[in-house]
Amino acid sequence: YDTQTPPYRTSDLNSFASVSARKRWPIIITGAIDDVHRAMYTTKDNEVEEEGKKIVEELSKLKYELQHNRQLSPLPDDGIEDIVGYNQELSQLGTPKWLDVPWLFAECYLYRRMSTLFQLTRHWRDYDVFSRQKMATFKSSRPAVLELAARYKELITQLSSDSDAIVSKSQEEIEQTEHIIFTEMCEICLWGNATDLSLLTNLSYDDIQKLQGSKARKAAEANIIANDLPDAFRILRRARKNGREKETRVDIILDNAGFELFVDLILAGYLLSAGFASYIVLHPKSIPWFVSDVLPKDFSDLLNVMADPKAFYETPSEDEQHRGITPQSLSEQDNKEIAFLFQHWSELHADGKLVIRPNRFWTEAGSYWRLPKAAPSLYDDLKESELVIFKGDLNYRKLTGDAMWDPTTPFTQAIGPLGPKSGIRTLALRTCKADVAVGLPKGEDERLKALDGGGGDSGAREWAWSGKWALVQFSDGKA
Ligand code: F6P
Ligand code: MG
Repeated sequence: YDTQTPPYRTSDLNSFASVSARKRWPIIITGAIDDVHRAMYTTKDNEVEEEGKKIVEELSKLKYELQHNRQLSPLPDDGIEDIVGYNQELSQLGTPKWLDVPWLFAECYLYRRMSTLFQLTRHWRDYDVFSRQKMATFKSSRPAVLELAARYKELITQLSSDSDAIVSKSQEEIEQTEHIIFTEMCEICLWGNATDLSLLTNLSYDDIQKLQGSKARKAAEANIIANDLPDAFRILRRARKNGREKETRVDIILDNAGFELFVDLILAGYLLSAGFASYIVLHPKSIPWFVSDVLPKDFSDLLNVMADPKAFYETPSEDEQHRGITPQSLSEQDNKEIAFLFQHWSELHADGKLVIRPNRFWTEAGSYWRLPKAAPSLYDDLKESELVIFKGDLNYRKLTGDAMWDPTTPFTQAIGPLGPKSGIRTLALRTCKADVAVGLPKGEDERLKALDGGGGDSGAREWAWSGKWALVQFSDGKA
């Protein structure tokens, strides 16, 4: 049930697949080794240490195999059923080598393989080897978190007292204002994806902070090269109108923890408060995935920060301790705004309006073309939703099969079985960090390639690798 269009491969020297496999994955594995080492130092338990050593050994072996272009070995059975599918696909691919394998499969295999090393222990089963990094990066997004907490309070307060203000406005004015706010909230949520950890190898913390402020967001609107947000707005407005008879559900297929999860919850809180959704279902991953992706525990970690922001922001990190830096204290104002946000999210969660629903399908190796056959009950469940929002780059690669489409191919065609008549309404919010791109106007790919750093005549679509450009694409599978 995969697309017939060939997928990107790690052997395409012109694609980000090749850069990923050669440069980025070894760095990511090294980071994991360092993390396990650090965790081992803090334990006094022999058994934990012995298991930790074994994990480090296996991670080093994995890195060696990758860097010496060995074959991908079958995954050991760690008791979770998706291993069978991984190994079947591996043998169908002819047990390929690291530098000549479909990119999407190899990258999923990489994280699944790392996960087996932890699963097969007694003490490290639930250990998230990327958690430390996720938290540290979230901390560095403090200015944007505070700015958005203030904006959130203002907006939610306004929404709950708006009934009086509305009387003096025409229907058209109300709709226009709503459209502007809806767009702002979705764009905040979109650009929150520009800053994931797997790309941190290229971006400094300063760069990240610049990307997250409100001025940057306005300027970045021109970088959304396909923008179907008006369609999503129309759908949700209509649903709200009809909402008296039935509940409106919106789903978010999450991407990264930390700042991106923070902005996802901002969007969710807004959609609920504005009446565009009566409840929101959030879909996290089940194993540490692509470094920064959301696991269920990342929710509680985020909420704990919001519950006591002073403890988080005012305690110096290890690095700050080394450098003798004392973090700036939070102002009373900042504290109040975060408290408001925490209170609001806690209420929504307690009222069953924010639901977390994991599914192993999200960490299988295949593309979402396989959803109807591979996970029929998840597929049926998503049909119940008014709108399913797919966040981020990897979700976009999986929607489109990570295939070498002509960039003018319509989005609805490139998502195959999830397109027309699928029963699922899809909205992709993606900053581009990989080669695949569809739904572009004719000539747009060429224009972007011709820009500085865009790839030029090399044939490489380099403009699409850095998170600078974004795609917002919609498919109405219920039409
Ligand atoms: O392009 C680098 C990369 O790691 C891709 O492999 C992956 O698709 C993406 O970044 C992860 O980004 P996101 O968190 O937006 O899915
Ligand atoms: Mg991610």
